[in-house]
Amino acid sequence: MEENRPSWSSRLTFILAAVGSAVGLGNIWRFPYIMGQNGGAVFLVVYLLLILTICFVPLFAELAMGKITKKECIGAFESVNPKFKIFGFLNPLTGILVASFYFIVGGWIIDYIFLSLTNIKIEDYGSYFVTLIQDSVSACVFTLVFLLICIIFAARGIKKGIEFANNVLMPLFAVILLGLIVFSLNLPNAHEGLIYMFKPDFSKVNAHMFLAALGQALFTLSIGMGALLTYGSYIREDKSILKSTYTIIFSDTLFALMAGIMIFPAIFSFGLEPNSGAGLVFITIPQIFAQIPYGNIVSAAFFVLLFAAAVTSGISIIEVPIASMVERLKLTRTKACAAVFSIIALISIPATLSFGQLENFKLCGKTVFDFLDFTTSSILMPLNALFLCLIAGWFLKIKGEHFIQNKFFAFLFDIGLKYVVPIILVALLYVGLK
Ligand code: PFF
Repeated sequence: MEENRPSWSSRLTFILAAVGSAVGLGNIWRFPYIMGQNGGAVFLVVYLLLILTICFVPLFAELAMGKITKKECIGAFESVNPKFKIFGFLNPLTGILVASFYFIVGGWIIDYIFLSLTNIKIEDYGSYFVTLIQDSVSACVFTLVFLLICIIFAARGIKKGIEFANNVLMPLFAVILLGLIVFSLNLPNAHEGLIYMFKPDFSKVNAHMFLAALGQALFTLSIGMGALLTYGSYIREDKSILKSTYTIIFSDTLFALMAGIMIFPAIFSFGLEPNSGAGLVFITIPQIFAQIPYGNIVSAAFFVLLFAAAVTSGISIIEVPIASMVERLKLTRTKACAAVFSIIALISIPATLSFGQLENFKLCGKTVFDFLDFTTSSILMPLNALFLCLIAGWFLKIKGEHFIQNKFFAFLFDIGLKYVVPIILVALLYVGLK
């Protein structure tokens, strides 16, 4: 174990950073509409069962592997067996690819913050959004600005940068979220949005819904990319990570539900379309801001909320390749950050252009943006989670009895880690690739 590795100031700052990683765009725009489309309350029950049983296992294993090995991803896998280095390497690679499309959305958020602050009244957000994503120069500039903000925090190190960003942005996020919930619930017909979100629709229960819930749960909990492994490796004191695992799961779910409670009552109150998917945040919701008094202030608050969530997740995504470069290549943190900035910029620029000049350039039938989204969320992240469970269960021999007092639950954890979760992840990969 290396003496000069950075570490968290306290358990609280670690939890805040891990929750900051989990709570992101996946909670605010993806969770509410996926829940709405997949049976409302029924989806919620399935989702909760999945995260408490299935996702609990790889989440705990990631944190444990980081904490036990005290190494970044490549070193962590290598320390179990030198032959496993390649599995560790897949994590920073996934991080770079995820960042290359996640940060584009971060760039759109910055554009919308400016738009709100400049007080421009937009009549048609649908066409504004299309113009924005097709305007290559400004989309690239905003993507790079978002990337630069995350890199600056990361470059300042664990305590001065990552902890600082989470200590400031997470409370800001929570306060704005609460404010917007109060605003939304006080709109006329707000209850219709809650009915849409929570009313159980049993006809939607099928295998597809289970897989949608599992895919969403893995992404939103930041599982399968080494972010939690890397954050776990900075835990210093000998505290149980069981409580941390539950806290991350609980907070992430709470924030996702709160995001739904903020969004759907407002959507229904204004008679808008709740199933607009990716356009929900950038096209549908701004139409509400256009119709209310002081709409630009509410709009700015909403996009600052999204920005805070996206930055804290973004930092955790880039910390994976940064930590690997610092520890493997012995680069200084600043040099590693410069290298990660350059690599992500190089990949994200063609991805940004896939809405404009490179619209017709396809990889496996997909635009660069969709290709990055698909290969990471549907292939690399489940694959990384699969390797992690197999290696942690069969080779690192993480055992339930070491941290769960109840013998039966400890036994279930072992079975889950070695057999059940890997089989389910293989099923998820199979469906994703079909
Ligand atoms: N969990 C983040 C979200 O819900 O937006 C996304 C994410 C962050 C995925 C970090 C993976 C990761 F390692």
